[in-house]
Amino acid sequence: MHDFSYYTPTKIVFGRDSEKQTAGLIKEAGAAKVLLHYGGGSAERSGLLDRIREQLAAGRIPFTELGGVQPNPRLSLVREGIALCEREGVDFILAVGGGSVIDSAKAIGYGVACSGDVWDFYNFKRTATACLPIGVVLTIAAAGSEMSNSCVITNDDTWEKRGTKSDAGRPRFAVMNPELTMTLPPYQTACGCADILMHTMERYFNHGENMELTDGIAEALMRTVIRNARLLVKEPENYEARAEIMWAGSLSHNGLTGCGTDGGDWAVHKLEHELGAMYDVAHGAGLTAVWGSWARLVYGERMERFASFATNVMNVPWQGNERETALAGIRAAEAFFREIGMPVNMTELGVAPTEEQIEELAEKCMKSAQGMPGIVKKLSREEIAGIYRAAR
Ligand code: NZQ
Ligand code: ZN
Repeated sequence: MHDFSYYTPTKIVFGRDSEKQTAGLIKEAGAAKVLLHYGGGSAERSGLLDRIREQLAAGRIPFTELGGVQPNPRLSLVREGIALCEREGVDFILAVGGGSVIDSAKAIGYGVACSGDVWDFYNFKRTATACLPIGVVLTIAAAGSEMSNSCVITNDDTWEKRGTKSDAGRPRFAVMNPELTMTLPPYQTACGCADILMHTMERYFNHGENMELTDGIAEALMRTVIRNARLLVKEPENYEARAEIMWAGSLSHNGLTGCGTDGGDWAVHKLEHELGAMYDVAHGAGLTAVWGSWARLVYGERMERFASFATNVMNVPWQGNERETALAGIRAAEAFFREIGMPVNMTELGVAPTEEQIEELAEKCMKSAQGMPGIVKKLSREEIAGIYRAAR
């Protein structure tokens, strides 16, 4: 087992009506003025935002608002948020939404708490050492940003999508009511399930040894996501399935399924981030569109692990040898993605990059990985371009 540190300071309040505790949690955090931060309209339409506003007003918590966060959150709105917080003396950010709103909140929090240009943190110049405290009311189970130290922002001047990591950005609390996710369109539910699964798959495919407990947790989490994602296709209002997926979303990206590993692969995420930047696709769908092409290129480097994934997660019977079992597992994962409505190539994702664009994607992927991405197999620029090509 590799050495590791595991830090999860986020208080989780989980269950029906849990959002009613939001004002109390903000008071507990000692906030003097709150930025209520949200997305493009779903929380307004569902009435959630009005209920939060009423709670803040009833609790005499002063607040100001900034909505309009887009999926693949934009740097320009982050800058607007930083200026607003500084002008209004905001000392706490409440993110009502999903990964995009939470990441936008984290970036604003970094920008206010640290001097200098906030893009520096995404441009590998510096690491954020401080952040305004953040609370979350989660409305989509997907990115896991409610417990993670990651924050992914798209620069809408240069169209680069970049992530940064800092423990300072981990939210103070996350309120998680699975019922709030029932208004999600089926496609967004499936994108979320795919992303959750992928956060553990990225950690599971590694070169570590002796991770019996971590492997067991990871495999149970992946099986749980697969079973409940299938259920939600037929029963979108199944509370228990929503709850399993929501909790899996947080545990899949708070570090738990990576404890004792070598850190995980993460090449598929790097490949997707470039698709997100160039085509503004939904993150979960971008991941499934390239995963199979990545897996077919690298599985030979860690055949036994791909075979374990096949038998222990995808429920594939042993095919007589490791190679056939591993390949059957890759096919089974792709069949699962299709079953829940996710693409397994870029045509199904709805994008058709030219040769020139593939070269650009590969170039940017290398740049954002600051070298060759991947752990199972370190990928060269040519191999990255080859994965994009194979995924067309
Ligand atoms: O903007 P609104 O109108 O709210 O609509 C959103 C958005 O269109 C909608 N939605 C959210 N909750 C809803 C709802 N619609 C109906 N009912 C609800 N209850 O769903 C759409 C997607 O929302 P978004 O926040 O973008 O989804 P997600 O949570 O998947 O976040 C994706 C972003 O997170 C980043 C991704 O790259 C992407 O930018 N990631 C962040 C990570 C992190 N910080 O740890 C890790 C991930 O790997 C990921 O990279
Ligand atoms: Zn992800």
